[in-house]
This record gives sequence, structure tokens and C-alpha cells, in this order.
Amino acid sequence: MEIGVLTGGGDAPGLNAVIRAIVKTATFKYGFEVIGIIDSFDGLLTPTRTRTLTPWNTRGILFLGGTILGTSSKGDPFDYRTEGEKAGHDLSSIVVDNIRDIGIDVLVVIGGDGSLKIAHRFQQLGINIVGVPKTIDNDLMATDVTFGFQTAVDTATEALDKLHTTAESHHRVIVLELMGRYAGWIALEAGIAGSADAILIPEIPFDIEKVCEKILERKRLCCSSSIVVVAEGARPVGGEMSVLERASDGYALRLGGIGNKVGDEIAKRTGIDVRVTVLGHVQRGGSPCAFDRLLATRYGVAAVELIARGRFGEMVSFRPPHITSVPLEEAIKGLKLVDPDGEIVMAAEAMGVTFGR
Ligand code: F6P
Repeated sequence: MEIGVLTGGGDAPGLNAVIRAIVKTATFKYGFEVIGIIDSFDGLLTPTRTRTLTPWNTRGILFLGGTILGTSSKGDPFDYRTEGEKAGHDLSSIVVDNIRDIGIDVLVVIGGDGSLKIAHRFQQLGINIVGVPKTIDNDLMATDVTFGFQTAVDTATEALDKLHTTAESHHRVIVLELMGRYAGWIALEAGIAGSADAILIPEIPFDIEKVCEKILERKRLCCSSSIVVVAEGARPVGGEMSVLERASDGYALRLGGIGNKVGDEIAKRTGIDVRVTVLGHVQRGGSPCAFDRLLATRYGVAAVELIARGRFGEMVSFRPPHITSVPLEEAIKGLKLVDPDGEIVMAAEAMGVTFGR
């Protein structure tokens, strides 16, 4: 059995931990061979770019951020376009031929929503696929947690701890813009763990007046410093998300800018000095936390177990306390968003955190 492995979409801490677990389990438990595909599906175009993976050439990568295989969030073989090209080309048949020529029996796709959708289309073309859910955004429906998320939350929480001290010294409002695309999970969880006074997420359109009321109330009662966490996908009631770049189908390739807009409004309406920090790709980098190392390792092992049982077309999934699996088509059905009336939001509101509603 020859297992191909690729990492697709934006990177996330824990990718290397999955690769390592796949290689070790495939080699030691089953005697399968593993071949790594370089730069996601791009490595399956002609000329193909691959490297043989063994337990010995993947030593020491458990704690490394990024991916030793490289990744790409642009190369969809079903709609492939080179830099600047407007119309896409369907190169999927080249990828299918190359997978067969290399001798890959099953392809493990470690990716988020976008990469898993591409993987599902290859499954429909007769390629055996096993999916592993990855994204710092934690927005995949068919799993409770994706690896990379917890590390991103920890990084954002640490940033908030630091912002509190400087905000307090200068009696300022500091706005922190966090990633998460259409989902507010990182902002919500880091916002609570990092003791934010306002948390603005895509799932709860905000009224800036409510946010300012909270800040002014704090000034009256205790302190003129406040911390506002804004998810990059947050938007005002009746307003739009701040999109920096769109794909031809309208999908937001890059969100950003809402932190500055919120900061400007707060300064104008409250008269308090405001500073804005955009944490950006720091959230995607660095060493995975222990939780993500463990989850990524369990996912990698489970992916090989699916292969050994011939269970193709499935994605491994975490339904605590178990690692299980779901059909790929279920995994890509929709996004998992924050429930605006769920327990976590309610807990924050009970403690006086405003969501601007
Ligand atoms: O999906 C992960 C993510 O980091 C999002 O939170 C963010 O919107 C996006 O990727 C950024 O992508 P890029 O690396 O293309 O800037």
C-alpha cells in the first residue's frame, strides 16, 4: 500500500504532528509506504513534486509549526489559474493520471473546508481519499475541534495579556483584530480567556453605540482602559464584512480592516485614545500547544487505521472523548459557526462582556 499525503490551504500548528503520526503508524504498524506531496495539489501537476517519507526523515518535527511539505491556498486543480489569470482551467485529469503513475493507492488530504471540497471531487473521480480536518478557524461542522485552533487561541490570549498592561498604563482602549474568517471561535474563546470587555464576532452583528456605552460605563465606574476583541469577519448591524480580496465566486479570500474601522468609531464617539493591533499570521505560526500535538497525533493514527480498513471517502473527526470518522460529503456540508445564544456567549454576557447587541 502506498499512501500519498498532502497539506492544503492555510497552514496551522500541528500539520507536522499529523504527518509524523501517519508515517510512524503506516511504517511500524502496517508496513505501508508514505509519499509526501509538495505544496498541496500543485505537487501533483506535471512535473510532479514528491518525497518519500520515513520515520527517520520525519524525526524531530512534532513540535515544529508550519508544514514540512509546503502548502498552497490557491491551487485548485479544478479551477487552476496562474498569477494574474482571470479564467481558470480544469487540470484535474492531469492530477488523476499523475496519482496513478506515482502509484498512490490512497491520498490523505490534511486540510480545511476548501481542500476537503477539492478532495471530495477527486474521490468522485475514483481516487481513494481520507481527510484530516485542519484549520485555526475551527469552523468545520463534522468535528468538535480542528487541530491548530487551540494554539491560535493560546497565542491570541497571550497577546491580550500583554495588551492589557499597556492599555491600562496609558488609559487607552486597545482593539485587537483576530482571524477566523466567517466564524468567531478564535475571538470568542481568546476574548474570554484574555478578559476582553467587548467581543465582536461575525455571528452577532454589532451596534457600535453599545460597545461605546460599555467603554464609557467602565470609565465612569473603574478605569479608562478597555480591551475590544474584533474577529476579522465581524460586521455592524446592517453592514458588510470588510473584505480585502474576493474569489470569482464571491468567496472572501482575505478579510481584514474591521479592527481599524471599529477603533476609529470608538475614538470618535468616546474621545478616548485608541490603538489598534492586528495579530494576523502570528496566530498561524509557531509550535503547536500540547492539546494540538495530541489531537493531531490521534488524527494521523486514525487516518491510517481508516486506510487499513479500506474506509475511503471519510474524514477523521473528534467527538470527545472519541476519535471517529464521517463521510467526506458530510464534512464539507456547511460551516460550524458560534451559536449567538449558546452557553459560551451567555457566560461572557453574564459577566458583563458586550457583543454589541
Ligand atoms: O483559514 C485560516 C486563515 O488564517 C483565516 O483565519 C484567515 O482569514 C485566512 O486564513 C488568511 O489567509 P492567508 O494566509 O491567505 O492570508
